[in-house]
Amino acid sequence: MKKGFITAGVLATVLAMPAAAQMSVEDQIKTRQSAYQFAAWNMGKIKAQAIDGEVAFDEKQMLAAANAIAAVANSGMSVLYSRDSANDRAENTRLKPNFFEEPMKVREIAVSFVREANALQEVAAGGDKAAIARQFAKVGETCKACHDNFRAK
Ligand code: HEC
Repeated sequence: MKKGFITAGVLATVLAMPAAAQMSVEDQIKTRQSAYQFAAWNMGKIKAQAIDGEVAFDEKQMLAAANAIAAVANSGMSVLYSRDSANDRAENTRLKPNFFEEPMKVREIAVSFVREANALQEVAAGGDKAAIARQFAKVGETCKACHDNFRAK
């Protein structure tokens, strides 16, 4: 009985481990870069249709793009940020080490990224082009805030 109990406990611990624990630093970097690239691709679609007007406005495409950005924002990306994955220790990354020295600032920016991305999703569901453009700008500010603070040039 006792042995079975311990085994279950160990199993629960393993299941509770963040996914990054099994992920190499290289994979963390590649995954977060791809996620941001994907978000940027979708931001670009909204910009082209709701702001620049170089592509005809399509409500469904705007919602699909907003859904994708919100999915990235809500995916729990913090597990892709281990200390060893900053650019003072790892290759092929622009993550600055101060990311790990300013957790309050990181949190504040991450929380606003999620909040504004969720709001964009809601606004996009309404289909109002001007409202989408305004909320797009708010999301863009959160992207920029993080890059200005934590992404190397
Ligand atoms: C919490 C901070 C944070 C937020 C929010 C954020 N980014 Fe980034 N972004 C980074 C960091 C850090 C990197 C560098 C990652 C690396 O090189 O490991 C990066 C890299 C990128 C890259 C380059 C990816 C590559 O292939 O190297 C693009 C494009 C990008 N971000 C776009 C965006 C857009 C668009 C948004 C908002 C919708 C956004 N990011 C929100 C921190 C953030």
